[in-house]
Amino acid sequence: MSQVLEYSEKVMDHFANPRNVGEIEDAAGVGTVGNAKCGDIMRIYLDIKDNVVQDAKFKTFGCGAAVATSSMATELIKGKTVEEALGITNKAVMEALDGLPPVKVHCSLLAEEAIHAALWDYSQKNGITIEGLKPPVADISEE
Ligand code: FES
Repeated sequence: MSQVLEYSEKVMDHFANPRNVGEIEDAAGVGTVGNAKCGDIMRIYLDIKDNVVQDAKFKTFGCGAAVATSSMATELIKGKTVEEALGITNKAVMEALDGLPPVKVHCSLLAEEAIHAALWDYSQKNGITIEGLKPPVADISEE
């Protein structure tokens, strides 16, 4: 028998009312990552000016936890410097959501990786080196 997962109220709220859904036209950075195992895909768009994330939007084709983590990740990243944005881990996203069931932790990794991929895109387009930023992986299930 499959177990019914317990989600926090915050996860349910960000799943039912996701913040920052959509696209940013001419975004400074766009990152797309997927997980081939579950088939979920997340894309994050960043508007960056003066080294600060002015706006963040996302499109996620995935499970409820992936939608909730993208929503929270885009909320957390807004107003942050590029360096601070790089420091937003999946743990920080999960904490902000009051946790995720263990089998859903990988969904939050999609959010972390999508942010990194968008920052990478930004750095490549502008010839900037962001210390500590590694080239993104397209499929996190390979990690
Ligand atoms: Fe794959 Fe949630 S089940 S991202």
